[in-house]
Amino acid sequence: MAKANQKHSARASASRIIAEVLQHHRSLNGILSKTLLLLAENERSLCQQICYGVLRWQPQLQAIADQLVKKPLKNKDSDIAALLLCGLYQLRNMRIPEHAALSETVNACKTLGKPWATGLINASLRNYLRNKTTIEEQALQQNSARYAHPDWLINQYRHDWPENWQSILETNNQQPPMMLRVNQQLTSRELYLSQLQQVNIAAEMLSQTPEGILLEQPCDVHQLPDFSDGKVSVQDGAAQLVAELLNIKPGQRILDACAAPGGKTCHILETQPDNEVIALDIDPLRLQSIKQNTDRLKLKASLVAADANDTTHWWDGQKFDRILIDAPCSGTGVIRRHPDIKALRRPQDIADLAEKQRLLLENLWPLLNTDGLLLYTTCSALKQENELQIMNFLQQHPEAQEQIAINPPASRATVGYQRLPGDDSLDGFYYACLRHR
Ligand SMILES: C[S@@+](CC[C@H](N)C(=O)[O-])C[C@H]1O[C@@H](n2cnc3c(N)ncnc32)[C@H](O)[C@@H]1O
Repeated sequence: MAKANQKHSARASASRIIAEVLQHHRSLNGILSKTLLLLAENERSLCQQICYGVLRWQPQLQAIADQLVKKPLKNKDSDIAALLLCGLYQLRNMRIPEHAALSETVNACKTLGKPWATGLINASLRNYLRNKTTIEEQALQQNSARYAHPDWLINQYRHDWPENWQSILETNNQQPPMMLRVNQQLTSRELYLSQLQQVNIAAEMLSQTPEGILLEQPCDVHQLPDFSDGKVSVQDGAAQLVAELLNIKPGQRILDACAAPGGKTCHILETQPDNEVIALDIDPLRLQSIKQNTDRLKLKASLVAADANDTTHWWDGQKFDRILIDAPCSGTGVIRRHPDIKALRRPQDIADLAEKQRLLLENLWPLLNTDGLLLYTTCSALKQENELQIMNFLQQHPEAQEQIAINPPASRATVGYQRLPGDDSLDGFYYACLRHR
């Protein structure tokens, strides 16, 4: 154990993870959960905080680091480049005493097997502390550093939302609140709130949703009463508004076409547990997490690993009364929860994703019964993936008609409803409900 800890301190691990995200474009969640298992329990939360924080502020931290290290480090030393960002983040944004942040970050060079870098990290961080005001001023002259987003994304938000782009960027840089959805098959929101009170977890009702709870402070799910018994799930309020829009009646056949990890599949089943729900996902590994969630919540869905577009392969020819396409998207509505999106997305991704979404709509629409509803949702805040996508679909399909919501889930868009990041403190989300006339 002592040996494992020597190789895996919080700061060294955070640097390796951040280097993987920035250099090899791997997503944070996947690497982080595996790495945390290698760390001593008291190091895990620090590692997680540094990873999220550094990726949230990376364009700003990088603009500072560029002034401190004049000659760029080699690719093979991307862990040391990331360690410098970790050091800066601790000094600027965390409540860690300066001397501890400095010495522990410098020590992490040895943990990374690169003792030659101790001088570089030490000198750079001390230089930052000595010349903070000038270095900060200089860095914040660049827009990407000032708003801590890549330029192309700032421009895209600005183009789509000329009135709101700055508040979107601000929200994206905040730490998100933790929200829960109570499993109405097993308990009620009132009862669960009193359970939370008994274990001193401060929480209140989430006003926008019938089963939602807002926690005052995020916590580990295993601290939540009866989490493993399925009384509650973690889900942002914006995603909780999806199930109601489907307006499901008993006996209806439902397709959840992009279902993993199953947040919305489970919510649908919590509202109508006896309906036939086919939960499909292209990624068999992610499909396993639907099984874990339905088991925990004591629900049943038919799970299918397949490309939803390939209907000859997986479809039995029986039409659906309800189809949910919670489409793969840029995630530009949920950057506060997934700050690695800033580093992972490229401008070209938006057009590629829009084409994937178009194909899903085209291929799944014929599977809907007359008078059935297809709900298209994304956690994107970009028009190309949202209202422009659906406007285009409606133009091509005169037999499709927008179904106006009785309880609108967000502000009206040209077609559908758009929630921008931070509207009512919820995630950014798009919803469009189409009826087959
Ligand atoms: C936004 S996520 C879905 C989240 C999920 N609905 C929930 O609430 O937990 C999009 C999902 O679509 C899946 N996906 C992408 N392309 C697909 C396709 N052609 N067929 C089926 N699933 C696909 C991805 O693997 C991913 O799990």
